Amino acid sequence: MLAPLPSAKAMVPFVSVDNMMRLVHHLGVETVLAELTDAIEADFRRWESFDKTPRVASHSRDGVIELMPTSDGSVYSFKYVNGHPKNIADGLQTVTAFGLLAEVSTGYPVLITEMTILTALRTAATSAMAARHLAPKGARTMAMIGNGAQAEFQALAIKAVCGIDTVRLYDIDPRATAKTARNLAGYGLAIVSCSSAQEAIEGAEIITTCTADKQFATILTDNMIGAGVHINAIGGDCPGKTELHRDILKRSDVFVEYPPQTRIEGEIQQMAPDFPVVELWKVVNGEAPGRRDSQQITLFDSVGFAIEDFSALRYVRERLSGTEFYQNLDMIADPDDPRDLFGMLLRAK
Ligand SMILES: NC(=O)c1ccc[n+]([C@@H]2O[C@H](COP(=O)([O-])OP(=O)(O)OC[C@H]3O[C@@H](n4cnc5c(N)ncnc54)[C@H](O)[C@@H]3O)[C@@H](O)[C@H]2O)c1
Repeated sequence: MLAPLPSAKAMVPFVSVDNMMRLVHHLGVETVLAELTDAIEADFRRWESFDKTPRVASHSRDGVIELMPTSDGSVYSFKYVNGHPKNIADGLQTVTAFGLLAEVSTGYPVLITEMTILTALRTAATSAMAARHLAPKGARTMAMIGNGAQAEFQALAIKAVCGIDTVRLYDIDPRATAKTARNLAGYGLAIVSCSSAQEAIEGAEIITTCTADKQFATILTDNMIGAGVHINAIGGDCPGKTELHRDILKRSDVFVEYPPQTRIEGEIQQMAPDFPVVELWKVVNGEAPGRRDSQQITLFDSVGFAIEDFSALRYVRERLSGTEFYQNLDMIADPDDPRDLFGMLLRAK
């Protein structure tokens, strides 16, 4: 006898990598980045309504695997994400991810999705949100140092949200810069490929570092940074992994996501535990000043926080509705009598 087909309650919408790519193209990548920036900003405005905890990290010699949970009391989310800088040499991604959204009232999942592409989108959107509040007004040029998987997303988000027209690229591997220049052609940005970080930041009002190295690196030194710039430091996001010389931090106003996590993982791990920082959500909702003047150096010490993934998952769920960019997965056991789980198993014999 054939086992009964799963009921509707058993099904959870699942977005594969293929369907995520279709959804992004259907909406337009710059539209997604701009809408995601607004979605994250809306959740940063209600920061206090979320459960918050530093992510749970499992470190090894080769990298890190992390779980990132949060809830606003009605919806719960988590993301599984890794960071393995050595993976590139083996033809693997440095960062991969997937995640889940669930209803708090029943505990039932309502979405499961790939999040490797979604993480690149949400990380870029978060940088754009920070830059919208912190970058000098009328910024036109961005330097993009580290031209790996995240790079194009970062450039296009800052274009879509802040209106830059030029991106200056640098990577220690010229093939990465050539790849990024190729991919960004056709998006209306002037692209300048550079042969050093120093050359890349010339004339840039926004500097984004997004390199991967499992060590304390010094991508930017203090003497390279002039007054008035905004820096998005994306790549330093683990204990023992930073990108900026600490002297830059001393001259900057430093903005962070969630201090208990950033003090362990961000650029500020190089500083004393009471080094002053401003929480970005307070700038977003007007409780703390962002950029005060044209000479100030603003630094977003980005590590990636669970609320950004929550916003991204909710955004995808909303945008999926009415589309065909998902499959239903038979994820939840749904016996006719909730107590007869074993009976359901027997009937499937
Ligand atoms: N803050 C966040 O929310 C967030 C989110 C995603 C990824 N990340 C981090 O961002 C970093 C980049 O991620 P990715 O997926 O683009 O990695 P990737 O490995 O695809 O790219 C990293 C690039 O950095 C380049 N690089 C390494 N050292 C350099 C140096 N000294 N100068 C210039 N370029 C250098 C590499 O050649 C490579 O092209 C990783 O460390 C990752 O953990 C942060």
